[in-house]
This record gives sequence, C-alpha cells and structure tokens, in this order.
Amino acid sequence: MNPLSEIIRRETVQHGVLSFARFMELALYCPVHGYYETKKDNPGRHGDFYTSVGVGELFGQLLAFQFAEWLGEMRNAECGVRIVEAGAHDGRLAKDILAWLLSNRPELFDRLDYWLIEPSARRQEWQGETLREFAPRVRWFDSLQSISSPNPKSSRPAGRNPELSGIIFSNELLDAMPVHRFGWDAAKKTWFEWGVAVDGEKFVWAKIPSPQSAIRNPQLEAVLPDGYTIEICPAAESWWREAAGILKHGKLMTIDYGLTADELFSPSCPRGTLRAYFRHHASDDLLANVGEQDLTAHVNFSALQAAGKSAGLRTEMFSTQSQFLTRILEKASKANSLGKWTPAQARQFQTLTHPEHLGRAFRVLVQSR
Ligand SMILES: C[S@@+](CC[C@H](N)C(=O)[O-])C[C@H]1O[C@@H](n2cnc3c(N)ncnc32)[C@H](O)[C@@H]1O
Repeated sequence: MNPLSEIIRRETVQHGVLSFARFMELALYCPVHGYYETKKDNPGRHGDFYTSVGVGELFGQLLAFQFAEWLGEMRNAECGVRIVEAGAHDGRLAKDILAWLLSNRPELFDRLDYWLIEPSARRQEWQGETLREFAPRVRWFDSLQSISSPNPKSSRPAGRNPELSGIIFSNELLDAMPVHRFGWDAAKKTWFEWGVAVDGEKFVWAKIPSPQSAIRNPQLEAVLPDGYTIEICPAAESWWREAAGILKHGKLMTIDYGLTADELFSPSCPRGTLRAYFRHHASDDLLANVGEQDLTAHVNFSALQAAGKSAGLRTEMFSTQSQFLTRILEKASKANSLGKWTPAQARQFQTLTHPEHLGRAFRVLVQSR
C-alpha cells in the first residue's frame, strides 16, 4: 500500500466502513498525498484527462470577451470590478483570461481584481508561478467564506468585502467534489449507501444501510432494476449556495460535465456517472490506484439551479458548451474583437464545440442577481 492508501486504510479500520464521499475526499485532497496535491501536470497530455483549458488559449479568450461584456454592463454599479475563479489548479485559465483583457480591454484590466478561491497552499504556489506577471491584480482566498472575512495571501491591503459584485466562476470544479454513492435494493425496495472497507491489502465495496435516503422518487423507484446506482453531491450544492449567498450583484457561472436531474435519475442511466480516469482511460475501478487516478461524477445541474434559486438568483442561461461558445464567437466577430484567426485557433474552436469532443458533454449554467 502507498502512503495515501495507508492513511485511508487506518481511517477505514477505525470506522469499519467509510462513505465513498470520504474515500474520494482523501484520495483527491489529502493535504500531503492527495491526487490534486501531487499532480500539477494534470489535466493535460501527460496527465489522466483533458479539460477545455488544455485545448489552448482560445477557451480563456472567449470567456474573457464574455466577462468583459458582463462587467461592462455592471460598470455603474462599482468603480472596481471583480472576477473570482475557483478550482484554478495551475492557473492557466486565469492567465489566458488576464492576458486577453490586458491586450484587448486595458481600461477594464486596470480596474480589475482577479481573485482565486484555493484551499491548498501548494496549488496557490503553482498559481502564483503561472500568474507572476499579473501579480498586482491577483489575490488568493482559502475559501468562499474568507471573502467575507478576508485573510489575503497578498501584499494588497485587505478591504472588507462582505458581499461581492462581479463574476464568480469555475471550470470543472464541481465534478471533482466528493460524492455519496447509492444503490437500489429491488427486493427490499430500499436504497443503501455504497461505502468502502478494507480486505487485506485492498479496498472493497461495503453496503451501508441508508434508512433516511437522500433520494425520494417513488415514480422512478417503481421501475428501477436491482443494483441501480446513482451519486449525490451535497458538497457541490452547498458550494453553489454559498457562492450565490455572497454575490450581491453579478453572475455565478460554472462549466462542467453534467446532466439535469431527469437525465441523471433515469432507468437508462443504471450505473451512475462516477468514473476513474487514469492515463486518459475511463475506468469503473474506483477503489484502485489510490491517489494516482482522478475520480469524477457528472454535475446535477437541476440541483445547482435550485440551490441558486433558493438564494435568490435567477437562471440566465443553461446550455451546452458548444452553444455558449458559439454565441460568444458571434458577438466577438461582430465586435471585431478576436482579430484574424490562426489555423490553431480554428482547430481549438472545433475541439471545444464539436459534439463528439467537448461541445455537448460540457454544459454551462449562468445565474445572476
Ligand atoms: C478537474 S480540476 C480543473 C482544473 C481547471 N479548472 C481546468 O479546467 O483545467 C479541478 C480543480 O478543482 C480544485 N478544487 C476542488 N475542490 C475545490 C474547492 N472547494 N475550492 C477550490 N478548488 C477546488 C481541485 O484541486 C482541482 O485543482
């Protein structure tokens, strides 16, 4: 067993069985050995999976154009403007966005604060290296809460910012949050939770009774096959609700793999969406290669929409990445904002928007206040 497996094994033995959510949290985010603490080059060609950021700078450039438009609409509300990114990993997307704004919207860039929500000191360091040239504009926060009671890791003076005007966004953040995994017992007509136990040197699945089920859908339960599996991600919903809560004026946006509740909780999706990614191959072996493989589940966009709505936000847009980026491209072309395209940019756009590549599986939710 590697050191991370040993840490998880000890906690598992102490508790008998761990929820899968706790296993996933430790596997991905253990402060020393977790997957996202040790794999700086992931996502990417040498890692286990690609994101839109790795396709090239065009993704960030298109987002920057859209953000400039949104922030322009808010101009009278605030003298400074703010973009808050969560889950920035190595800071590449932030760099693409800031570089485009500096070259194309210098007057906006000069008034801009780019804030990163990053709980990990190591990833803050990676981001600091990538964003060195933009240091005066960038500031870090450990969590969304710390925006309300700032403890900045920057030399800039701390203002009190109990509520935020601007844009809060993430790309592939919420699909990396720990999920609970539930199974359906058709004979007993009940849900149980899938937990993780230890058997010798291996982690194995163990059933945890789930009397107060997180899932209530009698219509669906009437037709479910035995062993039907789904995931629930309370962490993503709370994150979204909290982000909505600190947004005084502006947009909350996420781009991620995901489905609506109807698409997720359907008999045609019997195995759930939780997968492991190891060297660009998807696998169902979720308990193997601990700390060496990514674990990810589709985002439930209906749950996010409801969480935002309960915090007073309204949904402005829910679309595929393809529709979202195509609309931005149309506006940017009309405004002559992207200049003459290189063949590389045309290829990047194709990869980002083609339904067989990243265009359909990724969806974009924008809510606003
Ligand atoms: C799949 S990666 C996406 C990286 C990058 N946004 C991209 O698109 O290439 C997910 C990132 O979210 C980070 N993350 C997970 N939970 C987080 C949280 N609560 N706050 C901020 N970042 C988080 C992970 O550490 C990881 O760096």
